[in-house]
Amino acid sequence: MEEYMEREDIIKKLESDLKNVKTKNDLQNVKAAYLGKNGIVTNLSLKMKEIPNEEKREYGKFLNLIKEEVTTKLESMESELEKNLLEEKLNEEKIDITLPSRKKLKGSIHPMTRVVEELEDLFVSMGYDVISGPEIDTDMNSFTKLNLPEGHPARDAQDTFYLDKDYLLRPHTSPAQVRTMEANKEKTPLRIVCPGKVYRRDDDATHSHQFMQFEGLVVGEDISLADLKGTLELFAKKLLGEKTNVRFRPSYFPFTEPSCEVDVTCFKCGGKGCSLCKQTGWIEVLGAGVVHPNVLRMSGYDPDKYTGFAFGPGIDRFAMFKYGITDIRQIYTNDIRFLEQFDRKDVD
Ligand code: PHE
Repeated sequence: MEEYMEREDIIKKLESDLKNVKTKNDLQNVKAAYLGKNGIVTNLSLKMKEIPNEEKREYGKFLNLIKEEVTTKLESMESELEKNLLEEKLNEEKIDITLPSRKKLKGSIHPMTRVVEELEDLFVSMGYDVISGPEIDTDMNSFTKLNLPEGHPARDAQDTFYLDKDYLLRPHTSPAQVRTMEANKEKTPLRIVCPGKVYRRDDDATHSHQFMQFEGLVVGEDISLADLKGTLELFAKKLLGEKTNVRFRPSYFPFTEPSCEVDVTCFKCGGKGCSLCKQTGWIEVLGAGVVHPNVLRMSGYDPDKYTGFAFGPGIDRFAMFKYGITDIRQIYTNDIRFLEQFDRKDVD
C-alpha cells in the first residue's frame, strides 16, 4: 500500500514537472531527474538490495511498472514537444502570398559580350570555327611568325607590354593565325575567328590599354582578295545595318600583302559628315589583307599551293555604336549602374 502511494506520488510529480517543459533541454532535465544517475526511479531500483527476499518479487513488479509508466510519459512528452516545435517552425515560415515580392536581382549580358556573340553567330553560320588564344603569348607568335621584322616599331617596349624577353601581353589577336595554322599544318580549308582582349601601351582619352579584337583567318586554295571583300561587306552590313557601305584603302601590315584598311559608313551621321567621322562620312574599323606568303610558310603551309585572307577589327567601337555608349571607358569599368541598362529581356 505504501509502495502504491509512492508510485502515484511519483507519477503526479512527473506530470507536474512535465507541465513546465517548454524545450528539449527542459525535457532532458526532467528525464535526468527520474532516470538519470541520481534520478528518482534509479534510486528506487538501488533500494532493491534492502528489500527482504520475500518482498523482492513484488518490489520488482512495482519497479517495472513505474519505469514503464515514467518512460511512456517521457516519450509521449517528447513526441508532443517535437510536434509543437515543428508546428511553431511551420508557422514562422509560413509564406504570406499576399505580400509584395522582393525585386529579383538579375544579371545582364555585357554589351561587349553581346557584340562578340552576334559576330560569332554570323561567322559560325558561314562555316567558321570560333577559337580562343591566350592573352599572354610569345614574341615569336605575336611578331616573328607574323613577318614582323626585328626593329619594327610595334616590337618596341614602348608599344607592347613585355613580361620578359620572350613573353608579352598580346598586342593583337593575330597570333591566333599562327596558332591555328601550326595546329593544322596544311589542313584546309581553315576558317576561324578569334575574339579576345588585346593590350597596348596606349592610354590617352581615346585609347585604352586594353581593348577587344576579333581576328578572322581563312586559308585554302584559290582564296583571294575578292573573298575578303565579300566577307567584310557582309560582316559590316549584318552588324551595322544593311545601309552600311564599306570602303577599302590600301595600307601596310607586315603579315598581309596586299593589305588594306577598311572603313564603314559613319554610324553616327550615316555618311553626311559629323564630329565622330571628322566630317569624312567614314569610320575606320579594321585592318585586313591577303596572308603574306612568309606567314604561310613559317606556319607550315606551302604558299604556292595555298592562299588566305585575314582581318582584325577592334570591336569596342561596334558596341559603342550599337548600344549608344559615348565613353569607351564605360565598357571596362563595370559600373553596375551602367551594366543594369543592358538587361536582356529574353532571359526573364
Ligand atoms: N593585327 C592588326 C592590328 O592589330 C589587324 C590585322 C589583322 C591586319 C589581320 C591584317 C590582318 O592592327
